[in-house]
Amino acid sequence: MSKRSNDFDRIAPFYDILAKLVFGNAMKKAQTAFLDKIPSNSKVLIIGGGTGWILVELFERLSNVQVVYVESSAEMLSLTNSRLMKAWQAKVKFIHGNQCDIEQDHFDVIITHFFLDLFKEDKVSHIINTLKATLKPNGKWLFCDFELNNVHSKYWQKILVRTMINFFKLTTNLEANKLIDLREHLKSCGLKQVESRRFYKKMIVSCIFEPQ
Ligand SMILES: C[S@@+](CC[C@H](N)C(=O)[O-])C[C@H]1O[C@@H](n2cnc3c(N)ncnc32)[C@H](O)[C@@H]1O
Repeated sequence: MSKRSNDFDRIAPFYDILAKLVFGNAMKKAQTAFLDKIPSNSKVLIIGGGTGWILVELFERLSNVQVVYVESSAEMLSLTNSRLMKAWQAKVKFIHGNQCDIEQDHFDVIITHFFLDLFKEDKVSHIINTLKATLKPNGKWLFCDFELNNVHSKYWQKILVRTMINFFKLTTNLEANKLIDLREHLKSCGLKQVESRRFYKKMIVSCIFEPQ
């Protein structure tokens, strides 16, 4: 039987602990860096949101947003549900599935944090375009991911990325074989970067993109 790719069920209970062990607070800081830029009353799509702590951060800042939360891991979804109070659960539509399961909808904000790096290069543009079709023309795309700039990246960063890829290959059947230039893909799909911040010795980038 072939194993599902990018299957985070097995490591869901340990995912946040691992992220914190390796990166300290950097992944959290990067993912929350631009939450304050989300306009009130927004309809927000979060895809690949993991254990759901991002929802708590979001609702603590903005109580009047509606969220569609798309996650392919049942374990991640169950952890997400268990950390949300009832009033917040009512504001979230949970979809156990992937980018193909998003109904024709139009979002003010799309959040892809450490999600696009899961896929092989030949699939990434298609996924971006599928998601972009649901973004309003004046919408915002909050993107956060690892990045290696070949010229300036330190040797230890390259080793760390290779170790992470090998680890996730073993534990989740990760589809990607290498880290690609995701910001270039977003740009070539007609999105322009309007803000960015770097974290963890510039190895993590957090940005806001908007349709051109
Ligand atoms: C690397 S984790 C990142 C989790 C979270 N964004 C964070 O940074 O803490 C990737 C998440 O994407 C989910 N995922 C993988 N493929 C997916 C897909 N095609 N559609 C939706 N979620 C997916 C996984 O189950 C996992 O929770």
